[in-house]
Amino acid sequence: MSLWQKHAIFEKNSIVLVIGILVVIAIGGLVEIAPLFYLKNTIEKVDGVRPYTPLELAGRNIYVREGCYLCHSQMIRPLRDEVERYGHYSLAAESMYDHPFQWGSKRTGPDLARVGGKYSDDWHRDHLRDPRSVVPGSVMPTYGFLFKTDLDFQHVAEDLKVLRLEGVPYSQEMIDNAAKDVATQASADSPDAADLAKRYPKVQAREFAGNSGRVSEADALIAYLQMMGTQVDFSIYDDKANIR
Ligand code: HEC
Repeated sequence: MSLWQKHAIFEKNSIVLVIGILVVIAIGGLVEIAPLFYLKNTIEKVDGVRPYTPLELAGRNIYVREGCYLCHSQMIRPLRDEVERYGHYSLAAESMYDHPFQWGSKRTGPDLARVGGKYSDDWHRDHLRDPRSVVPGSVMPTYGFLFKTDLDFQHVAEDLKVLRLEGVPYSQEMIDNAAKDVATQASADSPDAADLAKRYPKVQAREFAGNSGRVSEADALIAYLQMMGTQVDFSIYDDKANIR
């Protein structure tokens, strides 16, 4: 009996075929997945990655609520065209505090993983109010209502607590100060700014949306956008950027 004839056993008997498929998938799955549970470097240690500030987290919640991920990814792949357009490819550690992650696979608009610092706050204000005013022909929807809506952050400490359950290292001090930190980060010259920076290194604090005296949803969203991709200092890691 030749090899091809033996294969007929699988083709003629669906139960044998199903068992065969299960065996092959089980082996493939084990080989791919099992090592990830043992390798210490599945997520490489990277300096600079910190949990989101309460304001950034609120902005991220708005990003998810508004479905920005339907048009934007947050993962730069290690391919030359992507790295030249967006910057250093994304590291696993950069999204380790994202629950759920926002990698995405749909790019109607550009990847946003490193959009922080690319534009001024002014640009983001104009762009969110009316994308066509800064990028003619843009198909992005307008989000002017975010400037009119006050940010509801009375439960922001609860958000931090839930994320702590999921493994994000929020300290008790961070949780206790969460609501205060929202207000501090969204104002230009708060006396508590130094305190905030101690809890969250490299934090940017200012009036992101330019609506002084109040904290709007746009403040939170722009704070989040301006932070994206700015935590890791890539001058340290550039020598490892082996781009294909
Ligand atoms: C219908 C698809 C769509 C949705 C939804 C969408 N965008 Fe966009 N976005 C685009 C497109 C297309 C562009 C490129 C043209 C432009 O800059 O407006 C873009 C550009 C951007 C840029 C500039 C990126 C760069 O590097 O130039 C930012 C920032 C941005 N979007 C943020 C957001 C945020 C925040 C949300 C959710 C509140 C959002 N987008 C929702 C389609 C979308």
